[in-house]
Amino acid sequence: MRRWYRQRYLDLLASIYIYNEHRGYTAIDRVLEAISARWPDDHALIAKVDKHRADERKHYLMFRRWFERHRSMPLRVDRTCGHIDRFVAVMFRSTIDDLDPLEVVGRDDLFERMCRVISLTEQRGHRQVEILLRHPIVRSDAQLMKIFRIIEQDEPSHWAPYDEWLRVHGRREPSWWERAIDQAIHSELLFVKLPVLFLTPRKRLSRWPDEEDAAAVATSNVEALAA
Ligand SMILES: [Fe+2]
Ligand SMILES: [Fe+2]
Repeated sequence: MRRWYRQRYLDLLASIYIYNEHRGYTAIDRVLEAISARWPDDHALIAKVDKHRADERKHYLMFRRWFERHRSMPLRVDRTCGHIDRFVAVMFRSTIDDLDPLEVVGRDDLFERMCRVISLTEQRGHRQVEILLRHPIVRSDAQLMKIFRIIEQDEPSHWAPYDEWLRVHGRREPSWWERAIDQAIHSELLFVKLPVLFLTPRKRLSRWPDEEDAAAVATSNVEALAA
């Protein structure tokens, strides 16, 4: 029973993380494109967001290797397990996929909102990793400990560019109610979503999420050629 519990916990934890890391770098890809279009000469901002994107992709690959080492695939989890998905849904009343990054980045009022959402999500992620690094089940897995230590070090540079943009442009920091929404989403994930996932049987992915990216790019290339 203990062994099953440990295995299930690690499996689920890594599945939720790989979902969120993949969500992170694919969403930043679109933001980066829009930032480069709006501020093509702001090389410092572009470089920092690009580094953020590269880190999230690196985190994704670390979890992929964790699963490959265990010769298994991630459990299927959807966007109800994505902190950023839920946060964007509340703050923009839209899914991430339906948001138009050019519109968000093109309007200061929307971009500042997005900066606060990303900053709070990254800070939440950092605090969560610190908790996990003290968790006995996580501590029993050397590879996961190594992954979480790297994430812990990377995270502060992730919220920095968005905080800096807010400061430089004289925009406000996250308010108490934005922090309350962030807290509510996190608590719901932890105390409602996670126990349900833990106890219900779940299918595994049949393909890696980044294989889906490659397939999507190939399809859009073919469509562009056909157009
Ligand atoms: Fe990450
Ligand atoms: Fe991050």
